[in-house]
Amino acid sequence: MPDTVTKLTYQTFQNGKNYFGLAHKYLSSQVMGLVSPQLKPKPSPLTPALLLKLQARLNQLLEADWQDAERGVYAHSLLFDNPWADFFRYYPEVWLDMPQIWQRLNQKNYQDFSVEVAKNDYPSYYLQNFHHQTNGYLSDSSANLYDLQVELLFGGSADPMRRRILAPLKDNLGATNSKPRILDVACGTGRTLKLLRNAFPQAALFGTDLSPAYLRKANQLLSQIPGELPQLLQANAEELPYLDNYFHAVTCVFTFHELPSAARQQVIEECFRVTQPGGVFVICDSIQMFDSPEMLPIMDSFHETFHEPYYKHYITDDLVERLEKAGFERITTQVHFMSKYLIAHKQAA
Ligand SMILES: C[S@@+](CC[C@H](N)C(=O)[O-])C[C@H]1O[C@@H](n2cnc3c(N)ncnc32)[C@H](O)[C@@H]1O
Repeated sequence: MPDTVTKLTYQTFQNGKNYFGLAHKYLSSQVMGLVSPQLKPKPSPLTPALLLKLQARLNQLLEADWQDAERGVYAHSLLFDNPWADFFRYYPEVWLDMPQIWQRLNQKNYQDFSVEVAKNDYPSYYLQNFHHQTNGYLSDSSANLYDLQVELLFGGSADPMRRRILAPLKDNLGATNSKPRILDVACGTGRTLKLLRNAFPQAALFGTDLSPAYLRKANQLLSQIPGELPQLLQANAEELPYLDNYFHAVTCVFTFHELPSAARQQVIEECFRVTQPGGVFVICDSIQMFDSPEMLPIMDSFHETFHEPYYKHYITDDLVERLEKAGFERITTQVHFMSKYLIAHKQAA
């Protein structure tokens, strides 16, 4: 009985976040239409039939999330984990940032950075206002707003989607190693590392990202958790600063769609290099055309609505072929809600 109540509470909590996300998207596009009529939002791809399909996929995701908690992949408390303090502190800032976003949209200016951003330190493909974020990934303010914006976009399902990497990792790491080394590539603000810490309390965790601001935010989040602090390093995922064959597992969440084709391959090659023989590499990223054709109207508009310059190429890219080219084998895929997962192995020595 208590389990039923907990499950119902979890579903209600998630549905609340979903409705809040929908209301936010509707309100912000209405306000944009009033303040900047020339930016009148394009007709939404969300027909009633598509909305029903989305709801069904969301329900399946929540069920998978609940079942993994029941199986002990992670604690039930993770299902209710929400950065409330950040929500109350930064939600007003999401609105205050909108006029700047509309101005950039008006000017079709998608590579707009403040003078203090040292642009020479980054690859040119990275210097974009991804998701129309002010200063892209390169300011503390962007790092403060990022998780909230992702939550609003996915209606509170970002962490449930991230958590789908944990069961494949558990299955592959098994009980053979009491202190596995796990690297999260492009760790951003550290949400995935937080989930990894819950599922693998004894693991040595590592995270890299190109953005110093996002790493600072990750450090704030992760340093609050008891236990060993994950080691965070600023690094380009195309040149990981680690020894060959060092990690038992490598993960990469919501990043491949933000890389151009050549960088995508190079990051996969690097992940292969640093994975131990017998180790596993798990990718979580957007769904693609061939696994979710019914979601095509959403994928079609996503790159423009959220300024994702490499997304169009990503949704038709053969990631399995890329993984095989790098040397990975026994590659399996899964789809949950709006994300797909690739679980790839490096042959044991
Ligand atoms: C959409 S965010 C995903 C962040 C995080 N993994 C998550 O689950 O929210 C993409 C992240 O990739 C990082 N990134 C993009 N290109 C990179 C590269 N070449 N090397 C390292 N990090 C990169 C960005 O700084 C950003 O933090």
